[in-house]
Amino acid sequence: KRHDNGLSRDLYQLMDEANLYYQSQLRQHTDKQKVIDYLEFRGLSAEVIAHFGIGFAPDGWDGLLGRYRQNQEAQDKLLTAGMLISNDSGKRYDRFRDRLMFPIRDRRGRVVGFGGRVLGDGTPKYLNSPETPIFHKGNELYGLYEVRQRHKDPQKILIVEGYMDVVALAQFGVDYAVASLGTSTTAEQFQLLLRNAKEVVCCYDGDRAGKEAAWRALETALPLLKPGDQVSFMFLPEGEDPDSMVRQTGKAAFEAMTDQAQALPTFLFDTLASKYGTDKGTLAKQAIALIEKIQDSVLQNLLLENLAHKLGMNGADDLKKKMGFRVKPAN
Ligand code: CTP
Ligand code: MN
Ligand code: MN
Ligand code: MN
Ligand code: MN
Repeated sequence: KRHDNGLSRDLYQLMDEANLYYQSQLRQHTDKQKVIDYLEFRGLSAEVIAHFGIGFAPDGWDGLLGRYRQNQEAQDKLLTAGMLISNDSGKRYDRFRDRLMFPIRDRRGRVVGFGGRVLGDGTPKYLNSPETPIFHKGNELYGLYEVRQRHKDPQKILIVEGYMDVVALAQFGVDYAVASLGTSTTAEQFQLLLRNAKEVVCCYDGDRAGKEAAWRALETALPLLKPGDQVSFMFLPEGEDPDSMVRQTGKAAFEAMTDQAQALPTFLFDTLASKYGTDKGTLAKQAIALIEKIQDSVLQNLLLENLAHKLGMNGADDLKKKMGFRVKPAN
């Protein structure tokens, strides 16, 4: 155990050094102009670049590695930290090459991973740190540390898909957005969000994938909800994401859209209604299957009550009787 803590400490130290290295390359590398051009193309301000610690991993196999030529132990740890890759013959090289670098911080501000974006159209568009002893993707939220630097006790947090969304929103003054790191939002991430703010607004991209992500987020959130938690969903016009949207609308109009976000029960019932239409039996079955996921009995009854009225029944008790709904034993 003591050994593990020592290792973690060394990994945090090396991640911090890597972060400083990438930031220095943005200032002084001979290729820096193309990165500066790309940042300008994306419309990122110097202030927001500095606030998020955005950097540049130069092209080449040993930009980072080369700084640890004489230090085998550090190299081993950089491998463990996911910053180096070892090929079949054991030769090591930089994982991140020719990419814009977004450091991912844990809640104490320590760099635990990176997202690296190609400077243009290459693939993969984003390369992320792998799981390591100090980085568990499903437990971290990109930008949460930065939100908490600006707001001690944020009332509302937006959850978005991408690094660029978080950074662009912050630049425009919507400085309370976090991203779920490419995966769909996990239960652990929702728990973290609900611990940090009373209101969580899911704002995924205005495309098919974004809509599916919203529905998965609803299913993930249901078991965690307590009375008073406010989870809502906002849907962007087709083809837009929060980055492109806030640049068009500006802060005030974007925030007005977040205020109009659909409350979770509305999203749930509206989606089922549009899917099953006048087939009340199927609608009720599907709704109940979802409502059953809710662990909190007060909230569960509230939604049953809601459903009963939509179905033209007298109330939750009537609905339970007709549908054979069994209340879970309290746990
Ligand atoms: N993502 C990823 N790997 C990819 C593509 C996407 O990890 N190959 C993750 C990234 O976290 C990305 C998010 O999914 O930020 C959303 O993807 P997408 O909407 O395609 O990218 P944007 O964030 O909009 O990036 P950009 O505006 O730079 O194109
Ligand atoms: Mn603010
Ligand atoms: Mn997308
Ligand atoms: Mn985008
Ligand atoms: Mn996007």
